[in-house]
Amino acid sequence: MSTIPLQSRLPKTYRIKAIKQETEMVRTFTFDGSLGAKPGQFVMVWMPGVDEVPMSVAEDDGAVTRITFFAVGDMTNEFAKLQVGDLAGLRGPFGTHYEWEPGQHIVLVAGGYGAAPMYFLAKETVGHGCTLEVIVGARGKEHLLFVKELESLPHVSLHIATNDGSVGYKGFNVDILEKLLSSCPRPTKGKPLGTPASPTRATRDNKKCSPIDQVFACGPEVMLKRVSEITASYNVPSQLSMERYMKCGYGICGNCVMDPLGIRMCVEGPVVKNEVLLKLAEFGKYHRDDLGKKHNFDTPKK
Ligand SMILES: Cc1cc2nc3c(=O)[nH]c(=O)nc-3n(C[C@H](O)[C@H](O)[C@H](O)COP(=O)(O)OP(=O)(O)OC[C@H]3O[C@@H](n4cnc5c(N)ncnc54)[C@H](O)[C@@H]3O)c2cc1C
Ligand code: FES
Repeated sequence: MSTIPLQSRLPKTYRIKAIKQETEMVRTFTFDGSLGAKPGQFVMVWMPGVDEVPMSVAEDDGAVTRITFFAVGDMTNEFAKLQVGDLAGLRGPFGTHYEWEPGQHIVLVAGGYGAAPMYFLAKETVGHGCTLEVIVGARGKEHLLFVKELESLPHVSLHIATNDGSVGYKGFNVDILEKLLSSCPRPTKGKPLGTPASPTRATRDNKKCSPIDQVFACGPEVMLKRVSEITASYNVPSQLSMERYMKCGYGICGNCVMDPLGIRMCVEGPVVKNEVLLKLAEFGKYHRDDLGKKHNFDTPKK
């Protein structure tokens, strides 16, 4: 028996109110209507006769719902053909969301389309008096998402990383995360998550440093794995958004469970605290397809 109300489990049609081409491969659809989603939650997007796939909510302001997506396969390529005024089915919202305390100093790490839910999260957290370090990474400047929108928010310091160095730091967004955490370590309190960091004398003496309370991340699993390792080593709590193959979206089919805990990413995820992720042996190693078959992250699928 699901605790999710029936009205959220059944698809409801929403009309596309606006379409924005973000980059060559990425679009944002604005749907006329709110699902009451919180940052980090996802919806199942249905195109009758094509397929139904999970997508993060890129924004829900109580009036409209936004989805930002890459056209990568059968469903998303068909979805990308929809025009303003067309209808699509949405079910949800499903899953866990990011959790914070008002006034916290938080680092957001975004890779790929992860920048969309991170912008939603940034808007909500600054509204609660949080100050943010937002790190957006992409292959090159033409693939960066939501940079202007993030720049327009108050209390946000934006850090950009590109693999080719076309803008910002040349390298990975996780390198910037490590620099931020090492230059401003958090006082060690309670039980450590991993190997405690040992701050240098220079950082201990830096009185202006405002310690980072939490790190939130959304992006490719290889990036999430590094965020998990880095935040554990600096003893900073983190919440990461996990993707697994989803069918029902609300906990009945079991397709999205992760080994060895058997927790369902559509219910106990997609936003998972690092202390739980550190117990999931498959994190960063393998995932399962629609038939439950394992695929390693570092080897081709077929
Ligand atoms: C919680 C969650 C949030 C997501 N948020 C976004 C988002 O905001 N924007 C975005 O562009 N993409 C998002 N995705 C990925 C998106 O679901 C896939 O890109 C989409 O399913 C591809 O479908 P396709 O038919 O176009 O391509 P296919 O060729 O069928 O698949 C391409 C890739 O998508 C994966 N995929 C296909 N179907 C599913 C499914 N039912 N569940 C999970 N993965 C699937 C496949 O394993 C494959 O690696 C999210 C996935 C999850 C699990
Ligand atoms: S998608 Fe069915 S249990 Fe998670």
